[in-house]
Amino acid sequence: MVGVISLIIFINYLINSSLLIYPTFSKSNLVRATTLGKAYGKNGVVVSTQKDASEIGLKILKNGGNAVDAAIAVGYALAVSDPCCGNIGGGGFMLIHQADGTEKFINFRESAPLKASADMYLDQENNLIEGLSTQGYLAVGVPGTVKGLNYALEKYGTMSLKQVIDPAINLAKQGYVLQQGDVDIFDRGKKKLSEPNVAKIFLKNGTDTYQPQDLLVQSDLANTLSLIAQQGTDAFYKGSIAEKVVAASEKNNGILSLEDFANYQISEYEPVSCSYRGYQVTSSPPPGGGTTVCQMLNILSGYDLKQLGWRTPQSLHTIFSSMLLAFGDRNHYLGDPDFVNNPTDKLLSIDYATSLRDKIAFEAIPPESIYTNGLQSEGTSTTHYSVVDRDGNAVAVTYTINSYFGAGVIAPETGFLLNNEMDDFTTKLGEANQFGLRQGEANLNEPGKRPLSSMSPTIVSKHNQVYLVTGSPGGSTIPTTVLQVIINAIDYGMNLNDAVNAPRFHYQGFPKSVRTEAQAITPKTMRGLQLRGYKVTPSRQWGAAESILVDPKTGIKLGINDIRKPAGKAVAY
Ligand code: GLY
Repeated sequence: MVGVISLIIFINYLINSSLLIYPTFSKSNLVRATTLGKAYGKNGVVVSTQKDASEIGLKILKNGGNAVDAAIAVGYALAVSDPCCGNIGGGGFMLIHQADGTEKFINFRESAPLKASADMYLDQENNLIEGLSTQGYLAVGVPGTVKGLNYALEKYGTMSLKQVIDPAINLAKQGYVLQQGDVDIFDRGKKKLSEPNVAKIFLKNGTDTYQPQDLLVQSDLANTLSLIAQQGTDAFYKGSIAEKVVAASEKNNGILSLEDFANYQISEYEPVSCSYRGYQVTSSPPPGGGTTVCQMLNILSGYDLKQLGWRTPQSLHTIFSSMLLAFGDRNHYLGDPDFVNNPTDKLLSIDYATSLRDKIAFEAIPPESIYTNGLQSEGTSTTHYSVVDRDGNAVAVTYTINSYFGAGVIAPETGFLLNNEMDDFTTKLGEANQFGLRQGEANLNEPGKRPLSSMSPTIVSKHNQVYLVTGSPGGSTIPTTVLQVIINAIDYGMNLNDAVNAPRFHYQGFPKSVRTEAQAITPKTMRGLQLRGYKVTPSRQWGAAESILVDPKTGIKLGINDIRKPAGKAVAY
């Protein structure tokens, strides 16, 4: 007993002193990382953007559920307690690593309604009609979350739907106590809370902003979740829930039909993968952002980043170049694999990475020489969570309703926000969407097609053992956030806390400026970058890389809640 306690104290010391695996970065004064969002254990870990949802996931693990069971419970719980982003009215991606090393990818991205068309957001003069692809029922893609979560549970989980949904039903019925972090999100998304069905739920008495310690009860959502628990997936796609959404859509100039719901399919694909410094990196294939993550890593594998230095002009120029080159290809080539032929084999080949490296010289690569489609993004209504169980199964989920509080509409009596994912299509060739996205023909809107995404739930493994589970919200910044967590850990030897919480930067060529969080780059380095032709623009924080690291020597699992999402929590046992 004394031995066990000493071992626990020793491991605690190692983790808290940042010596466990990565000794270097904690000494840097660039990071103001908190230790509050940290949890570790021998058995299982859950990290999500909302504490009640994380705790629900942990309870499932403690009750004998596997990582998939816990992931489904967290997915439904976040639909209640992280309403800006967690959802049943949107879609997303799930990456599963099974203890035997097998990896599965489930695509439950929303699809365009059957009445959709490439010019549906344009007026007679061919101009984009402001707000049409972002607000209201015409912005809504056919939701995939319920089918995706239930499919994953049935195929890879061990528990019943009732067991994993019940905690979310209770959370909706009895309410959850709002933290400052929850309230801040309502404040930020306030302009999306005015539609009467939305205001009724997410504004106090229908008019005022909720305050910390208020209890948020969601009875309609509790009823909707109970129907799903009792009747399964069909309750959502072929029953009264679909009927209510379609009726509201028809009444409000939308094009959703019962056929859209009844025909909605999820897909299971091979994930994309690449090898990086001896690790296997697995992530989302198109329409997800994992190809971009792997392309950047393939390019960077030809350099010794550590030797180039931490955030020096040389190392940053190399990383920025990898970002620009990968985004150029993303915007030009990629789209829904059920509709376009994505050249991922070529894009991820070593020869191609070598040819891209040849473009990197002393000066910044002119973005015009790489691609003509611009891309810019602010925070999106996406959320990422990670789970690892005691057997070494891991799940990474990123799902979304696109912008904060989605399309800002709720069908009467359903209680859940609908997405505005249609705005992720190329709404007009050559024109930016709500996040400044100017994408190509491969991503044009067509009936049944899924819009291109940047979501990149990612699992890094070695010898089939999970090493790192990560992902993030943040639109086009998702792949670069995931990249930085990976290189911070692997190249710069940081502990996970520092790897996740280090100030970030983002570059994609257009706009012609590197975005940086506060203290990401020193003034001296900035001058060095300017000499190479870069413009650097400070920005507010972005992303929430809810991550887990498994120590290869001890098997101890460490979860880190990103400081950028204070309502989140890492829990472990
Ligand atoms: N809606 C943001 C994304 O899928 O990338």
